[in-house]
Amino acid sequence: MITSIDPNAALFRRNAAAYEALLRELRERLAWAVGGGGEKLQARHVERGKIPVRERIDLLLDPGSPFLELSALAGYGLYGNEVPAAGVVTGIGRVAGVACMIIANDATVKGGSFFAETVRKHVRAQEIAWENRLPCLYLVDCGGAYLPEQDRVFPDFGHFGTTFYHQCRMSADGLPQLSAVFGGCTAGGAYIPALSDESVMVEGTGRIHLGGPPIVKAAIAEEVDGETLGGAAMHARVSGVTDYLATTETEALQRLRDIVANLNWPRDSHATRRPVRPPQHDPAELGGIVGTDLKQPYDVHEVIARLVDGSEWQEFKPEYGATLVCATAHLHGYPVGILANNGVLFSESSTKGAHFIELCNQRRIPLLFLQNITGFMVGVEAERGGIAKHSAKLVYAVATARVPRLTVLIGGSYGAGNYGMCGRGFAPRFLFSWPNARIATMSPQVAATVLTELRRGSLKGEADTAALAALDAETRRQFEEQSDPYYATARLWDDGVIEPAQTRDVLGLCLELIDASTPRYAGPSPVYRM
Ligand code: COA
Repeated sequence: MITSIDPNAALFRRNAAAYEALLRELRERLAWAVGGGGEKLQARHVERGKIPVRERIDLLLDPGSPFLELSALAGYGLYGNEVPAAGVVTGIGRVAGVACMIIANDATVKGGSFFAETVRKHVRAQEIAWENRLPCLYLVDCGGAYLPEQDRVFPDFGHFGTTFYHQCRMSADGLPQLSAVFGGCTAGGAYIPALSDESVMVEGTGRIHLGGPPIVKAAIAEEVDGETLGGAAMHARVSGVTDYLATTETEALQRLRDIVANLNWPRDSHATRRPVRPPQHDPAELGGIVGTDLKQPYDVHEVIARLVDGSEWQEFKPEYGATLVCATAHLHGYPVGILANNGVLFSESSTKGAHFIELCNQRRIPLLFLQNITGFMVGVEAERGGIAKHSAKLVYAVATARVPRLTVLIGGSYGAGNYGMCGRGFAPRFLFSWPNARIATMSPQVAATVLTELRRGSLKGEADTAALAALDAETRRQFEEQSDPYYATARLWDDGVIEPAQTRDVLGLCLELIDASTPRYAGPSPVYRM
């Protein structure tokens, strides 16, 4: 494609500078997540002879393996910012040549205990592993449920119990579940290794017991120390609860690698992969193109040109329904069908999108949704043209697509546009956001207008101007706060905030996982399959 972007133009430079500020903020927040429980607790952890969680992951992975970390900013802005990364690191990397999901507790964050966001992150990692046919490796160092939050962690579907339910079902479905135990595993925490296919325990620090020494004393008046009750040597030699005893953490991680190396795991096929070609246009220019003002229009072709191989694609129906760009291309050598917003969705763009999804279904091409959408068109003309039904056709096609789907929020994600462009409710395999993204039913300005008009109507001429102004201001504040991408990622509404320039590589890793698992792909999210 011939670009019309001029990196020296005033608008581009203003946009790029504003976007740089967003990237600095993102990197600062990621540093907070990586810092875990802070310097003092990290030092205590190391003094105890334990390895920090991210170093454990480095030691586990093959040298040079990428690590696709998920939802690093879970918990951001919650609990006084005292639960960085929600106390657990999750992500995908290669171990002994096999792509694996890694779920690793950070014991420096409240003893690695589970808050609501920790459970959601753990469950989400399992969902991704299940759908992409990945073995799960649990690096266990956790104090079970965070007790003051037990009502948000324990009783419901999707809470702690579901993590164990998933573990059993995935194992039964042929996906290995393997654990290495580095710290105390009490009660629920004990079931992570106990339900694993194989587990390794580290002597001296690893503990597994249904009830720790204080509970044993209170329940049956038995006085016992932790090592005797649930130490690694006892479990390896007496109870048989664990399968391997390791004298150091490094040895435990090497044992885990040896187990993966002997899984007899099928090699990746990469049948459809073409040679990888970089885009002709620089992905680093994306910030300068999209900017930080969602109201400022740009041509989404310029974004696609910085994501796909050779900046080349085959556009479907380019003369029709132009506000939804539909195109097939290759990304890191893998085929992909792209649906990208270029304005509000009309009936024409909706039916075109539904048609395009059918083509990709037939040709087994995974779908990529690039969301920047205020919604479907409203008004008399649109309603008389059947927008309600035509938009529903797109939503239906998205929901029932027979190929894997990926979504990136590159701008606004509002109203039913979120549904038509495969928002979280439609269970894409992965969903990432850019730091300029916004997600809500509607923008703060529209929400304030709707709510003040409703209030004005119900007061029937007795409207108090000051009260309406206060409602307007409060609604804007609420919608600003809640549509912020960090508000969303903290609550696990996405799989992470990523930089525009990293997007091509992140999507390449996702497409590689999809390619490896597609021959065995069995339909929509397995959570809803039973
Ligand atoms: N619920 C609430 N808080 C917990 C917790 C839990 N399950 N597990 C740990 N914490 C908190 C501690 O109170 C402490 O908080 P503080 O820093 O505000 O004082 C912090 O996490 C660190 O715990 P600490 O005991 O100092 O860490 P440790 O590394 O020495 O030990 C554990 C870690 C997990 C072995 C130990 O905390 C423990 O045994 N926790 C309770 C386990 C349990 O009974 N779980 C049952 C859940 S169903």
